[in-house]
Amino acid sequence: SESSQFCDAGIGYGESCGVSSSSSPKLLIKGGTVVNAHEMEVADVYVEDGIIVAVRPNIKVGDDVTVLDATGKFVMPGGIDPHTHLDMEFMGSGTIDDFFSGQAAALAGGTTMHIDFVIPVNGSLLSGLEAYEKKSKKSCMAYGFHMAITKWDEVVSKEMEIMVNEKGINSFKFFMAYKGSFMINDELLLQAFKKCKSLGALAMVHAENGDAVYEGQRRMIELGITGPEGHALSRPPVLEGEATARAIKLAGFVNTPLYVVHVMSIDAMEEISKARKSGLKVIGEPVVSGLVLNDSWLWDPDFITAAKYVMSPPIRAAGHGKALQAALSMGTLQLVGTDHCTFNSTQKALGIDDFLKIPNGVNGIEERMHLVWDTMVESGQISVTDYVRVTSTECARIFNIYPRKGAIRAGSDADIIILNPNSSFDISAKSHHSRSDTNVYEGWRGKGKVEVTISGGRVVWLNDELKVFPGSGKYVEMRPFSYLFNGIGKADERYLSSLKAPVKRFRATT
Ligand code: URP
Ligand code: ZN
Ligand code: ZN
Ligand code: ZN
Repeated sequence: SESSQFCDAGIGYGESCGVSSSSSPKLLIKGGTVVNAHEMEVADVYVEDGIIVAVRPNIKVGDDVTVLDATGKFVMPGGIDPHTHLDMEFMGSGTIDDFFSGQAAALAGGTTMHIDFVIPVNGSLLSGLEAYEKKSKKSCMAYGFHMAITKWDEVVSKEMEIMVNEKGINSFKFFMAYKGSFMINDELLLQAFKKCKSLGALAMVHAENGDAVYEGQRRMIELGITGPEGHALSRPPVLEGEATARAIKLAGFVNTPLYVVHVMSIDAMEEISKARKSGLKVIGEPVVSGLVLNDSWLWDPDFITAAKYVMSPPIRAAGHGKALQAALSMGTLQLVGTDHCTFNSTQKALGIDDFLKIPNGVNGIEERMHLVWDTMVESGQISVTDYVRVTSTECARIFNIYPRKGAIRAGSDADIIILNPNSSFDISAKSHHSRSDTNVYEGWRGKGKVEVTISGGRVVWLNDELKVFPGSGKYVEMRPFSYLFNGIGKADERYLSSLKAPVKRFRATT
């Protein structure tokens, strides 16, 4: 798409556009309804040097302050996307959005921070991080990292300590699927959960039974089903439910909190619900595609149309999405991600003769804020304050960066959006800011539009125009021992004392 940030076709941004990249003006956002996760009030928001300085009615300022009128609109913390894959090598291809184009798209849609998954290089976390530090140099907004773990040994275990204690990473993702590449078995999962617990780091799982998925794929090939529908048929909801239950039980056995990424099915959601009712610390993350789409597209006769919906776990039959929405509104699921992992139609065409070769992933980083508003708030399923909780605040709490992020209050970073509930948005590959030539939400029109995005105190999105600069982004370090770890030690003590003293047994001597 043509907009100001791409005016130099990839080189020499910033000064050439007649806008200075570094200045962070004083801002006053006037007369809006300021929304936080647990309250809202009509107030002004005053920003200096990228930080929110004051939030109260009738703030008076001098002529040197830029004033944005937010009367009749909502002033909210910028969105935080807990789950993205920018510039990732995956399935013989590379995601089309890098740390600049993906973040530019995010900002145009009201997301001001994302947490991306570092993929180790040959199992090495340090090499993986080094690679991602390079990739992310062109960032234009706040970002953090999770670390994926793809093998297990003493070196990896030691590197996890370095990640947590020196590199600002407080979460590790384990793949129970992708047999032959990322998948790790239960024995390693247990070791890794123990390590996460000792470090105060959050264990995250991609929960699908990888061995059974492999079997399902063989079955499809035997039946001669080679199209995108074979993807969904080969990995049904039961395999997601099984792995979710297994991960939950193993994390419970170790007594460490667990975060289940991309919850796509009723089966997985029910396991999370059961676990939370029994007191386990389990977080469930639905993604936008799972909430609002259904699998009917996978049967589309046009290959490219069908292939763009291929992601794992698969987008499910209608009914699953509705149930996930209800679970989100009830609090069974806590926050919404995207799993933004975009491949263009040429890349998707790698699998034209074999669904196993279709790179897995869909877009969403730009669309998430609008689609959650339209689907959840406009429909009356959640309140405006809950919207802030599920799109921003809860993510900040889970990854231990609250209230620096996820709040409109004095002292917090000035990552702010202004949403007009009376305006509307349109989604199309023609106008979106991702580099992909397709969009899984093509043609979606809905109510509620992010009219202004402020990132680190700078207005970066206004009047449908982006002003972003590669290199202006900030890495956000995340400390271990989030609130999810409160009470873990007490529960361990109670467990140990319940074992009582060892039974003394006497052997008869003859
Ligand atoms: O299909 C997906 N989800 N691609 C990204 C990798 C992952 O499993 O999150
Ligand atoms: Zn320019
Ligand atoms: Zn995954
Ligand atoms: Zn993912």
